Amino acid sequence: MLQVDNSKPDFPWGPFPDGWYTVSFSEELKAGEVKRVTYGGKNLVLWRTASGRAVLSDAYCPHMGAHLGYGGVVRGESIQCPFHSFCFDPEGRCTSTPYEGKIPHRARLGTVPLEEKHGLLLAWLPGGEPGWSVPALDTTGWLPLRHNVWTLSTHPQETSENSVDLGHLPVVHHYEDVRTLNLARADGPYLTARYSMRRKGIPGIGKYIDAEFTVHLWGLGYSLVETWVESMGIRAREFVLNTPVDGKLCHMRAATSIYDGIPLEKVSPALALLPKRLALHALREVIFQSFVNDMKQDFDIWQTKRYVDPPALAQGDGPVGLYRRWCRQFYPDMPKTAAGAGAQPQEMLSVASG
Ligand code: FES
Ligand SMILES: [Fe+2]
Repeated sequence: MLQVDNSKPDFPWGPFPDGWYTVSFSEELKAGEVKRVTYGGKNLVLWRTASGRAVLSDAYCPHMGAHLGYGGVVRGESIQCPFHSFCFDPEGRCTSTPYEGKIPHRARLGTVPLEEKHGLLLAWLPGGEPGWSVPALDTTGWLPLRHNVWTLSTHPQETSENSVDLGHLPVVHHYEDVRTLNLARADGPYLTARYSMRRKGIPGIGKYIDAEFTVHLWGLGYSLVETWVESMGIRAREFVLNTPVDGKLCHMRAATSIYDGIPLEKVSPALALLPKRLALHALREVIFQSFVNDMKQDFDIWQTKRYVDPPALAQGDGPVGLYRRWCRQFYPDMPKTAAGAGAQPQEMLSVASG
């Protein structure tokens, strides 16, 4: 187990870049449940109404400060405080108190914008009005997410930088023949790129796998990698979802889904003998474990590295400078010249040369 180095310098541009961050997988929050969470440096409660609406609100009751995560209960479409039984709806309005008379104006519970999309509960952190949204994916024909979460000492800008850091792919992940199919392109809070590479095979599925990856970043907390393995007809979605907790730690989530129309006989004759549902779940598991295995290869580096700005970029690094310039928008309080500086004209050449 890695000893976390608490002496490494803090990430310089602030611990909580604006954006949509996963605070839970949908299936982890049942109707009527109340959970304590800390994200974006705030103590919050995540709860789901009886009709199924997910809500993220301040942990502390505006009446006299009780923590709603310790004894708060869902009553229909509201959450009831354990201290004096005030109830609050998903907008934070106080809907009832046990007293006669008017509800005090100040009895308003703070809420955090929350959207439920393709199996994720995405919150706009660290707060305020969302400036954009993550597009919903059509999940028709896709298996539910297989997922996991780890607590790491890192920052979402550092982990998302992997998406454009081509140089680490052969070194850390042992990918071969890494090529850029589409140059990295940024458009507002969205950044996309497309690569191909060869990786060592997965047991039972072939010696080598030649795959194409399309990376979609929406801000720094949400990365979707669409994977296409033409030789086997495999289509997979892999999510890398990093959510800052308290300014030091992050929750790093990984999730995988696969398309249920994959021609199983092309993947493995043995798999094709199983009942289809079982075979698809087995394939999703194998792909998920392989994805997690790759991701874990980055963990020690993420947890021990420091942020270097400007970096000593070399030919072949990938569009790191483009990425860092794109990152600046997520720190609205930073001077424009400060955050994420360090783009070198040279690294743009390295994109073109793949
Ligand atoms: S502290 Fe919540 S109702 Fe009084
Ligand atoms: Fe990586």
